Amino acid sequence: MTLATTSPLATLDDVDLRALAARLGTPLYVYSARSIRERIQALQAALRGTDALICFAVKANSNRGVLGFMHEHGVGADIVSAGELWRALQAGIPPEHIVFSGVGKSELEITEALGAGILRFNVESHDELLTLQRVARSKGTIARAAVRINPDVDALTHAKISTGKAENKFGVSIDEARRWFAARHELSHVQLDGLHVHIGSQILSLQPFQEAMQRVAAFWRELVAQGHPINSIDAGGGLGVCYRAGHDHPIDAADYVATVREALAGFDGRLLFEPGRYLVGEAGVLLTRVIRVKHGDQRDFLVLDAAMNDLARPSLYDAWHDIALIDGEHRPMTAYDIVGPVCETGDTFARARTLPTCAAGDLLMIRTAGAYGASMASTYNSRPLAAEVMVDKGRYAMVRQRQTFEEIVAGEQLAKHWETA
Ligand code: LLP
Repeated sequence: MTLATTSPLATLDDVDLRALAARLGTPLYVYSARSIRERIQALQAALRGTDALICFAVKANSNRGVLGFMHEHGVGADIVSAGELWRALQAGIPPEHIVFSGVGKSELEITEALGAGILRFNVESHDELLTLQRVARSKGTIARAAVRINPDVDALTHAKISTGKAENKFGVSIDEARRWFAARHELSHVQLDGLHVHIGSQILSLQPFQEAMQRVAAFWRELVAQGHPINSIDAGGGLGVCYRAGHDHPIDAADYVATVREALAGFDGRLLFEPGRYLVGEAGVLLTRVIRVKHGDQRDFLVLDAAMNDLARPSLYDAWHDIALIDGEHRPMTAYDIVGPVCETGDTFARARTLPTCAAGDLLMIRTAGAYGASMASTYNSRPLAAEVMVDKGRYAMVRQRQTFEEIVAGEQLAKHWETA
């Protein structure tokens, strides 16, 4: 990724970010196609020689332009709702490249996904398994399913994005999964022949992956010894990215894949991966302008035109995002609390962050904003959803227009027609 913040001309994939912001306004999400492509290719290169499919976790960035780009590069989708199924199909991702995860798949969602002919359901509870069996039977079709194992492993990440501990709502214990397989013959319309595991997100150490995969591998060997064929193992997502230069040290994709392959030595079925953040996180920046500098009694505030509704991660998880001034790197440094205009104290991107001294109108970029940025945005405070663009080789393509006020209120109406339920 070309990110020349030290040059007076700040560019991303050879597109001048100042010109882009002037033309399209701020806040503006900008995604580097080159960076996404490089990540896909790094993972694909590490997987060469295996029967593997990368299914992008749509929740990380559900923009149809981004999903279409994934599809063009041979990447499928990991979905968690009917809405994500719809988006993935709209973006051209074929159903046989779609896996469905999540603890709360409704009967309607299961029906739709089955009707679409998706590759596989990652089943997270016995009730869901029975629902899948019932729906598949009524449709006269066979559902392919994997059990999501909760390996009770600490992902060593933020508690709110940790999913593989026994106390978490995700997946089932190996004991429970064992019972499912023992009763497999009762499932006339579910082909239970896969294992799935996803222990959390923003993982920066190989060890939790290693532990989880070793537990899954031991279970796979046990199942095969008992005569249960396992045709697919899904290693989930979770690969961390760099939010704070010099502080976060992401795992190399090749090392990660080697860890998975090592644990699963001898497995000759299909390997599935569900990376989200790894593919798009560092590819994205959120461009934002300084509305004003406010000198408080105790500190200086940099008030931006981006807010927690555009990028919720700092307020939700106290997440750090590097923030850079696009021009003006020779100015003296000042410490700021960097905040948005939303009426909440939590609308804070950074506290006591040192930046070149800023003035109203200055253009900043909030980095590593490509994952869980736009996809988690809201219109809180009636702020329109930000525009999104992809950049590549000196050109840009709009992938989301800035929302209008009319679009914000579409569907709302005055309470004029009172009816009885
Ligand atoms: N597979 C499943 C079943 C998942 O639940 C997730 C993410 C992924 C794959 C992709 O994980 P990734 O590779 O992106 O780490 N909003 C939070 C992250 C929530 C992750 C939820 N599940 C954040 O902004 O940090």
